[in-house]
Order: sequence, then C-alpha cells, then structure tokens
Amino acid sequence: MIYLDNAATSFPKPEAVVKAVERAMLAPASPGRSGHAAAHAASRTVYRARKGMAKIFGASDPERVCFAPNVTWAINAAVGGFGLGPGAHVLSGSLEHNSTARPLALISGASGIEWEAVPPGPDGVLDPEEFRRRLRADTRLIVLNHASNVTGALAPAREIKEAAGDVPMIVDTAQTAGSVPLDGMASWADVICFTGHKGLLGPTGTGGLCIREGTPFRPLAVGGSGSRSESLEHPDFLPDALEAGTQNTHGLAGLAAAAEFLLAAGVENVRAHEMRLTGIFMEGASKVPGLAFLGPGPGDPRRVATVSVVMEGISSSDLARRLEEGYGIMTRSGLHCAPMAHRASGSFPGGATRFSFGLFNTEEEAVAAAGALGEIAAGRGRR
Ligand SMILES: Cc1ncc(COP(=O)(O)O)c(C=O)c1O
Repeated sequence: MIYLDNAATSFPKPEAVVKAVERAMLAPASPGRSGHAAAHAASRTVYRARKGMAKIFGASDPERVCFAPNVTWAINAAVGGFGLGPGAHVLSGSLEHNSTARPLALISGASGIEWEAVPPGPDGVLDPEEFRRRLRADTRLIVLNHASNVTGALAPAREIKEAAGDVPMIVDTAQTAGSVPLDGMASWADVICFTGHKGLLGPTGTGGLCIREGTPFRPLAVGGSGSRSESLEHPDFLPDALEAGTQNTHGLAGLAAAAEFLLAAGVENVRAHEMRLTGIFMEGASKVPGLAFLGPGPGDPRRVATVSVVMEGISSSDLARRLEEGYGIMTRSGLHCAPMAHRASGSFPGGATRFSFGLFNTEEEAVAAAGALGEIAAGRGRR
C-alpha cells in the first residue's frame, strides 16, 4: 500500500501517539471532574495537549486553547462567537471547505448576513489586495482556509489580515497545522481553528480553537463543565466556556503526544520533507501528457503537499480506482467536500484525483505515484 491520502487523515500515526491513547484508555479518569489521583492525572494530560497546541501556534496562554471534536465544530463555534446579525458583511476565500462554506451559507440565509467569497488570482492563490478592495464599513469578519484541501494553494493569511486592519479573522488550519510552521500565528490571527487528525498526526475526534485575547466567543453548547457547578449558567471563561461535556480524554492524550512529537521533530523539517516529495511527484507528473494540476504548479513554494490532478479521458474516480487496483496507491477523488474550490479551479462537477503527501511518505513513493500516472495515461496501466 502507498498511502497518499494524508489530506483526508494522516497515516500512520507516530507510535508515541498510539501508545498514549492506549495508556489513557487503560486509566480510569474524567479530567476536571472527580478529585482522585487518576482524575488529576487525566487533567494533566489534557493540559499537556493544551500546552502542545499553544506552542504549535505560538500562543503564550494554553488556557486560550479550547478543544472540540474537529475543525468543523471549531469553525461553527468561532463564527458563532462573533454574534453577527443582519447588515453584517463577511468575507472568505473562494477555496473554502464546506466546513466554512456551510456555516456561512446558513447564517447568510437565516440572519440576513451578506457573505462574499474572494476569488483567487490566475495563479490559483488569493491576493491580499482583492480582500482590501472588497472591505466595507460593515465588514465584520473574514474566514479563511489557510491551505486548500483541493489545490494545495497556501493563502497569504497574514498579509490578508494586515490588509483587513481591525476586521477579525478566523483561520482554518486543517491543511497546515503540523505541516507548515505556524508558531507566530497566535500573535495576529483572532481565532485559529484546527483538527487533530491530519498534519497534527493525532487521533480523529480531536480539534479545537486558539482564541486571541480580546476576541469574542460564545458557547456552541452548554452543560457540564466541572466548574461553577452551582450555577445554571455555563461558565463564561476559557477554556470551559467552549468545552461543555466530558472531553475526549483518550484522543487528547494522543494529541498531546502528537504535538510533542512534532515539536521535537521540528515542523519546519516536516514542511521541508513534504515539499521535497511534492516536488519529486509534480516534476515527474508534469511530463505526463494530458495531465493538468490544479493550483500552484511544480516548484511554486505557495503550496502544501496536496496535489490534485485531472487526466484527460478518465474520470477522477476511475483514475483513483486504477491507482488503487493496479498500484496499491490510495488517493481521494471527487469534490473533496469543497465544491467552491473546484468551481474556482474549473474542475466542477467532475472533481479531481488528489495525492497528498505526509511525514511518513518516501521519495520512492512519490516517484512511484508519478510513474503510475504516466503508465495509465499511456494506456499501459496495470490492472
Ligand atoms: C481545509 C479543510 N477544512 C476543514 C476540514 C474538515 O475537517 P474535519 O472533518 O476534521 O472537521 C477539512 C478536512 O477535509 C479541510 O481539509
């Protein structure tokens, strides 16, 4: 098997992550609830995950990291925190995943909010000037996908934030956290949303938000918090305000280990490795006749290790099936839960076949993937 679907979820997970989940499951514990030693140990594990994620984003206060089941939940909570009402104007990029597009469509339909998506330039990359041009007196929020899970294009998020002035920004780091160094992001992004199971190399069911001092927030759900139990009102302080109900302690034990693994390995080294493989793959695949890449081309540093291709004469799903059946190469075809990005890239509704490299892929695998595309395009593909 050659696993090239790391943009969906990373595989394999570091052994330390697997072991940490196992250890957590063998311990009796509910963090922040009971007062016995095992509960305290679980609380310390959750705090280690908070500390690790704060370090990944360069946040000085781990208590501003709130956990959630995934980035989808986190984005919904982050958008809700701004309490937008009729008359508000919201900007996003045009390469958004449905985890942003659907919450924005929902509030713009139900609450009279105007949502405008900014298209990328001809190179497939968002331009801060385009955001500056569309800013209005009633613009209340920008929500931005930091890297497209379809084209791999990296958004100039900091430059867009600078162009936006005081308008707050939510950044979806699903495709960059753990793969692109983000240790300065907490100093300028108002809310950073993350998911634990992709580049962060943690378990599914983990994710969250990192909220900058002074940024508004409000609970998406209320309930048990282990704090202020005497009151019918949910706590209004972080992280409890956004963490109703028992935490995914087992998953967060894995996320703590994953963050520590990445910090020891150096996210900049992960980035260098993934981009080396991406370069090898794109260089090889660029010689395949009838094959087009979506987004920034070979050698362009404004991308991540996610490369979608469209091959003439074969559907994205048939190509993915041929790669799996003939070569054991696992990719993802179709619209990748991001129809906006496909529309912006001219690949809607057919979609594309997506190759996404991760820390544990090798140069041989990148060469093999490009070679398989060449054989299939030439009509010599293995069956
Ligand atoms: C850019 C982007 N945003 C959001 C998501 C949603 O992630 P999750 O399902 O973990 O909430 C994904 C996952 O595919 C993604 O690639």
